[in-house]
Amino acid sequence: MSDDRGLDDAPAIPDVDLTRPSIARVYDYVLGGKDHYEIDRQVSAALFRAVPETSQLALDNRNHLRRAVTWLVREAGIRQILDLGSGLPTAGNVHAIAHAVDPSVRVVYVDIDPIVLAHGRALLEDDETTTVILGDIRDIDAVFDHPAVRSMIDTTQPFAVLAASILHHLSDDEDPYGVAASITAKLSPGSYALFSNFLDDDEPRAKALERAFLDGGLGTGRFRTWAEQQRFFEGLELVEPGLTYANDWRPDDQTPTDSPTHTLYAAGVGRKA
Ligand SMILES: C[S@@+](CC[C@H](N)C(=O)[O-])C[C@H]1O[C@@H](n2cnc3c(N)ncnc32)[C@H](O)[C@@H]1O
Repeated sequence: MSDDRGLDDAPAIPDVDLTRPSIARVYDYVLGGKDHYEIDRQVSAALFRAVPETSQLALDNRNHLRRAVTWLVREAGIRQILDLGSGLPTAGNVHAIAHAVDPSVRVVYVDIDPIVLAHGRALLEDDETTTVILGDIRDIDAVFDHPAVRSMIDTTQPFAVLAASILHHLSDDEDPYGVAASITAKLSPGSYALFSNFLDDDEPRAKALERAFLDGGLGTGRFRTWAEQQRFFEGLELVEPGLTYANDWRPDDQTPTDSPTHTLYAAGVGRKA
């Protein structure tokens, strides 16, 4: 617990190279968070120049994630969740969304960025159903072999893997389709996978924002077509309404269906038979 200065509660922040942006911190900045540095803000400025409504794009994704996690726990009966590329803690974290339906749901957060581990550990110190680990989705076997995953996710039972806003941070050379197939191969019958990605719907704004991601300092952020994103779901049955614009996936009264970034993001949930 905290000492007088609260220092015991402070996350041990890892060494950070202040000359290099981090995807997690840029995303945090775009979402209006507070865990970012000058270099992250510079990179973000290039994104806002390309598409001024870029924050809404991130919010559309978070909104889809909220609805999908609620659906997975409330309607599909999922009680264990592996969240890949989970990002820095933000408003409406996956475990809080799941626990609002059932506090016993187990959640393992996985991210490549040590700063996510540091902040996540501080947040989750007293939470016995949720943990955070370092991991790289380009090696799905290693993620599933991690002791925390092995102890918290019973892969003989149904579980859900979330890959929200992460595969677009893999270039084609890094084989996002192979990563998706590796995830699907790990799923037990009755399990689910969520994939969401920047959408190339043949719009000039998609091209402009992709260029800003790729050339603006971050070096990652690949917009993919409907056909490309359908490939993520090979071996899965798409849950209704299928792969759609993120805001068209089971919208509720908190979904910004008139979002200015409606056509820049696609999402879906697949079920392993
Ligand atoms: C845009 S954020 C998405 C956060 C969250 N999933 C969401 O949808 O709101 C992408 C996250 O993926 C992480 N990431 C990037 N490449 C990764 C990799 N190869 N393995 C694991 N995490 C990765 C980044 O550190 C970042 O936190």
